[in-house]
Amino acid sequence: MAADPDRPGLAGAPDKAERRAARDAGTVWGLVLDHFVDKHLEAAAAMKINPDGGVARTPEGVVVTSKELVLQVLLNSEGNYTVEGYQPRMQESIGVIYLGMDWGPEYERQSTPANAAIGRVTRREAFDLALKETRAALTTVPAPNGIIDIQAVSDVVFAKLCSHWFDIPDGVYVKPGGFRISNLLPPGICPGDYTMPSGYIVHPDPDVLLTLLGQRTGQILRESVNKYVADKRAAGQLPTAALTRAFFEEFPKPEDNDLLARTIVGVMMGALPTINGNLVTIVKTWQRTATLLALQAKLNASTQPDEFVKAHDIVETPMRQTMQNQPTPDWLWRLATKDHTIGAKNPVQVHAGDKIYLSITQATQEELRAGGDDVCPLFGGDRSRSPHPTHACPGFEMGFGILLGIVYGVVDYQPTAAGP
Ligand code: HEM
Repeated sequence: MAADPDRPGLAGAPDKAERRAARDAGTVWGLVLDHFVDKHLEAAAAMKINPDGGVARTPEGVVVTSKELVLQVLLNSEGNYTVEGYQPRMQESIGVIYLGMDWGPEYERQSTPANAAIGRVTRREAFDLALKETRAALTTVPAPNGIIDIQAVSDVVFAKLCSHWFDIPDGVYVKPGGFRISNLLPPGICPGDYTMPSGYIVHPDPDVLLTLLGQRTGQILRESVNKYVADKRAAGQLPTAALTRAFFEEFPKPEDNDLLARTIVGVMMGALPTINGNLVTIVKTWQRTATLLALQAKLNASTQPDEFVKAHDIVETPMRQTMQNQPTPDWLWRLATKDHTIGAKNPVQVHAGDKIYLSITQATQEELRAGGDDVCPLFGGDRSRSPHPTHACPGFEMGFGILLGIVYGVVDYQPTAAGP
């Protein structure tokens, strides 16, 4: 599923040709995909406000659009906001994990070892593996006329990356595959089944279809990964994959099996749709414009022997700019816990219980217009700074390395006459 740069909205939303292809293939997925694009166009239009001062009250709640105020809400230094609005949705889907908990002892207990394990994956390690798997995928995924189908490549690469770090898909309880092959029955599909739960939980106003699919695919993943966990426990085995192994070590007791399964699913859900959404946007945007060819020419002309350095020199800045222009996620949300005022210029009176819409898109576009290269609003803040928002992404280095590795591999791809 590819994002259409002309259509803001659902992460990784398909373009027209893809939707037609999905329908022609006799699946219901084309109709589903049409529905999401239409719904998100409506939502985007309804929320396209640009208040002077970066915040405004709307009939739905309080919309925050400036980078400064978006980061202020995420940092939440006065405890004015809660993330726990995610919890009822999580309960109906993958189950509750620490992303849905405000800071406190239980959040600390569940998150500290898991986030530390994620943070140990370096950008270079992620880049190297992603590049290797991308090059392998490019030899097998058809690229008619040399035009790469980035979603097809992404589906193959992510199945491989996830096996490496998570031991999932294991081929038994979770099978490798993209979004379109899900039949809404177990076994779970990786990476495909992770998209809908993420959209359902993190998008401020999921419609009825996103709600149903987000719930169903989340339940399938929770059930499938529970079986995987039970199997490993019964065999007395620890997975070799670094992240899942760390989570097994974090929750060694059998009574924590479901929490362990939820954590595995939840962390993967944090990684997959976000990287995929940005990846597909970047590549499709560059394929449509002169950027891809211009960057290819720069790579060809470079004498830098270290590909990691070369990717940073040549690909990183345009990649950040495209992410800023059309980020995934495009929105996050919170609930107000108490009455307070937000904003200096044209301040808004917030009431306890108000829904706070955080426009990541407007925050990052503001940064882009100002010529800055910061992408931290996309990641819920910058965890390397102190203080940082409680939920700021622990996978920034890993996610950025994966994204850079795949994008670099695609830009560097030289189709052979024979093709894959
Ligand atoms: C392009 C890549 C990524 C993007 C854009 C991204 C985005 C985000 C955002 C926006 C949040 C905060 C959500 C909120 O505050 O409501 C978050 C949190 C989180 N992300 Fe990422 N993420 C990425 C990669 C990853 C990776 C690679 C992993 C793990 C392997 C990961 C795991 C998590 C987890 C576990 C949290 C919750 C942290 C906590 O509550 O302490 N993410 N991410």
